[in-house]
Amino acid sequence: MSSIRYPLLLTICASCSISLAYAADDNTNKSPKPETAAEITSKVSLVHLGSIDTFTITEQGTLAGRFLLSALDTKDLSYAKKAKEIYETIIPTEHYGGEYTALEWFCDYLLGNEESRKQQLADRYHKSFFEFFSGNDFANLKEYLNRKYKLKKLADSGTEAGRDRIAFLEDFILFNNPRREEWEKTSKIFEALKIQPGTTIADVGCGPGYYTFKFSDLVGPGGKVIAIDTVQEHLNYIKSLTSKFDIKNIETLKDREDSAGVPANSADMVFMCSLYHIIYTTLTEEVKDRFVNSLKAALKPDGRLVIVDNAVVTQGTLPYHGPHIAKELIIGQLYYYGFDLAEQYQFIPQRYVLVFKKRAGEDTKSVTTSH
Ligand SMILES: C[S@@+](CC[C@H](N)C(=O)[O-])C[C@H]1O[C@@H](n2cnc3c(N)ncnc32)[C@H](O)[C@@H]1O
Repeated sequence: MSSIRYPLLLTICASCSISLAYAADDNTNKSPKPETAAEITSKVSLVHLGSIDTFTITEQGTLAGRFLLSALDTKDLSYAKKAKEIYETIIPTEHYGGEYTALEWFCDYLLGNEESRKQQLADRYHKSFFEFFSGNDFANLKEYLNRKYKLKKLADSGTEAGRDRIAFLEDFILFNNPRREEWEKTSKIFEALKIQPGTTIADVGCGPGYYTFKFSDLVGPGGKVIAIDTVQEHLNYIKSLTSKFDIKNIETLKDREDSAGVPANSADMVFMCSLYHIIYTTLTEEVKDRFVNSLKAALKPDGRLVIVDNAVVTQGTLPYHGPHIAKELIIGQLYYYGFDLAEQYQFIPQRYVLVFKKRAGEDTKSVTTSH
């Protein structure tokens, strides 16, 4: 996310939540059109980018990070125990599905025995995640804790390079978190999507490849996954694993902000997890037009555009992260780009899954800003 982290707090339509109904369309495309007026029923913000910059740093989170770092530095496991005790308290109250669960996973590893460690590393992607952070006496994990919780000033702290580095490490720990299934229920998303072997999937905004590698297994040797991101380090990590595990059906592609770069008419599915809120809120109309049109062109006529994003939750429920967007805003916007909502799912309050199809007759049309 480093290329588009903004130190801003953006709240559109502060204090609302909406309900959406479908009305019969009165224009020629014969598709049900989402209502343009949203009914405001509470003060919950519809879209919020407050902590896209980084997760909030809290006193207890910092203390736990400090204890975990001491455990790594001194090899004294009583520090890991103290860190774990704090994570147990703050996970249910401070974040939902954030990096704390990954840091607790490291505490569990340090505190575990041979058998429990073996189980933690049984999945080859979890093992690779562990190796990334634990190599060279846990150099990357120590660096992450020092940078994130500002425990030590590094030579590039405060510079753009330093910000990019912490953004990368934070995204990496967050998205490849071995405990992601536990909070996201990712496997239910896959069950719902019924991915067929032999198909081609463009994973746009793939990050360090959490979904990419799962798609690779599902499409099989006859299929293809194109892993696309603007951050080269994520793609480098994916490439390192494809050669390590001899995976032949993943290609990486570094895109520009205004085009996903996927060949026209090539994808059965374009998938975006936790990216559309960024597209919606940070791109100019012209760039957004080019970006969404590039996704539309990439899809085969019967292809699916799948958007997983962060839901507005009711008060008292922790959001997954700072940024969230009411799904109705995405459904409404994509309607005007020529996409109709075909299916939707929600397995946890913090995340929804929207499946769109290109509207017949519009599937090759580019939509541009009219003003
Ligand atoms: C919140 S992360 C999600 C990563 C991944 N989809 C996942 O769920 O594990 C969003 C990703 O989108 C990438 N990104 C941002 N703008 C992009 C763009 N215009 N095209 C492609 N990727 C983009 C960021 O670099 C980041 O890796």
